[in-house]
Amino acid sequence: MRFGVCYYPEQWPEDRWVTDIRMMSELGLDLVRLAEFAWSTLEPERSRYEFDWLDRVIDAVAGEGMRVVMCTPTATPPVWLMRERPDVLMVGSDGRRRPYGSRRHTCMTSAAYRDESERIVGAMVSRYGSNPTVVTWQVDNETGNHDSARCWCDECQAAFSRWLEHRFGSIDDLNEAWGTSFWSMTYPDFESVRLPVPTMTTHHPALRLAHAKFASDQTIDYLEQQFSQIRRAVPDEVEITTNFYSEDTAVDQRAAARLSGVAAMDNYPHGPQNPMVTAYHLDLTRWAGGQTGSAWVMEQQAGPVNWTAHNPEVPAGQVRVWTWQAAMHGYDAVVYFRWRAARFAQEMYHSGLLRHDGSPTGAVAEIESAMQEIRSFDFAPPPEPSVALLHSYKDVWAIEINPHRQGLTHRSMQMDAYTAARRLGFEVAIVDSMDDLSRYEWVLAPVVHISTPERIEALTEALDSGVNVVLGPRSMVIDRENAWSDQPLPAGMTDQLGARVVETLSQDGAVTIDPWGSKAGLWTDVLEASEAEVLATYSGGTFLDGRPAAVRNGRLVYAGFSNVASWTRLLGELTGRHWGPTHIETFVRTDAAGVTHTVTIDHTSLDVHVETGA
Ligand code: GAL
Repeated sequence: MRFGVCYYPEQWPEDRWVTDIRMMSELGLDLVRLAEFAWSTLEPERSRYEFDWLDRVIDAVAGEGMRVVMCTPTATPPVWLMRERPDVLMVGSDGRRRPYGSRRHTCMTSAAYRDESERIVGAMVSRYGSNPTVVTWQVDNETGNHDSARCWCDECQAAFSRWLEHRFGSIDDLNEAWGTSFWSMTYPDFESVRLPVPTMTTHHPALRLAHAKFASDQTIDYLEQQFSQIRRAVPDEVEITTNFYSEDTAVDQRAAARLSGVAAMDNYPHGPQNPMVTAYHLDLTRWAGGQTGSAWVMEQQAGPVNWTAHNPEVPAGQVRVWTWQAAMHGYDAVVYFRWRAARFAQEMYHSGLLRHDGSPTGAVAEIESAMQEIRSFDFAPPPEPSVALLHSYKDVWAIEINPHRQGLTHRSMQMDAYTAARRLGFEVAIVDSMDDLSRYEWVLAPVVHISTPERIEALTEALDSGVNVVLGPRSMVIDRENAWSDQPLPAGMTDQLGARVVETLSQDGAVTIDPWGSKAGLWTDVLEASEAEVLATYSGGTFLDGRPAAVRNGRLVYAGFSNVASWTRLLGELTGRHWGPTHIETFVRTDAAGVTHTVTIDHTSLDVHVETGA
């Protein structure tokens, strides 16, 4: 496992660089992440490239025996470029071009932006593509962040029409698939399907889902341009990745990770948040690059941030625990954000490993001990989990469009099943339903909302190959265009289930589950069993009382509720395991010599305990 830090030498006087880089090396870091937002320093005016300063930084890093993660600076085009080619800038849903002054204000479709990106990336790869100190390339930074994935410019409108035409072939097919006779929305041609801007009430959900997919596709296409440009210019062993903020959902992060098989996330748990949420994000990215992929924490919070409502303190011991947590969830590298707190600009209140005055914060000693401890064990890669949780960005978008009740999110329904599995001691691979499911003993599928023939086939094949599948609430309801299925629910799976969903109801939280006494949660699918065995029923609520809440037929289970305690009870009964608290994670790992270690992370006391031996 490698460790690194994000460094912005262009923000500091050159006579400090050698000291900084020596301190990084003395701390024991392997990697220095450079150039992420440095476009205006690298190219102060069109085609006048200034690489000498970066050469000197890279030489100093190499001189200390460390390696470089080179970032393409395309999240922050320089002012001269935006003045010359304002069409690189995105347009908001208010129809106004976004002004420059911050970052991520560019349109992913813009031909001008794609040309300019190709130019700066071309200059960088011809300078550093074969430099042996540069071992990894990071493409752009956090595409989709700051609500930047969806743009309303004329180029996006034209590209959206082409995207729809490619998808449907004829406008009649689109009208039929979307059911546009509703509210007289029958479209005469593809050009009349406008990108959704604010209107009197909500837009058609099929249009909104299409827009979400289109915007994500444009970003992936943009990223792919950089990935292939870099891939052509660097040796095979050099890794290429792109990093996402873990909470962002507008870009299909799995599709991006599969451009190279190396996924990267930026981990900002904001202090003592629910450790299960951090674990979920780690597992989501860990498996995003595919079942043989690898993952990085490209930015690891190491002190208070500056962009949340309260920016809470990060307790002593927390950075060490976050580092251990990433290591145990199978990460190849952790890169801390950032070396030294900025004296200027938007992030001057954000912490660094060093304070503004250059003195070390408490995080430095914690990072040093975490690195030493983790390296001393020389852990082998973690074994593949026996439990998989299905996740798809298309489901995320469909639920975002139709949450149907306040407080219910795709994430909250995923977290119910994920937390339950973790409490029972299972490690969890978060995968797509099109991945190879036959590798798992249990496939948890809460909120697999979209029912497609491919998904039905994948789940059926998994069941046939001996996998146990647990469908959760709001599963297999809509088709790929966001139209409700005309089949009984879960659409395409009722024969295998021997039961069907007869009502989908949102709740105020008062309904409970018999016999467990646990809450049903904000969502309840009410089942009617023909051949299935009823595992639990609802209690309370006039319509719900006594009706099936969970059923099983052979290896297929359906759970209608959305509550973590109920999921824990259900999975506990199905697997015969006992549950523990949510603040403790346990991992069994072997080291390179084959010795077994049990690692226990207590996220409340911030204690990491390693017991060696069986
Ligand atoms: C990340 C971003 C970094 C920095 C950081 C501050 O989301 O990638 O550039 O802004 O947040 O916490």
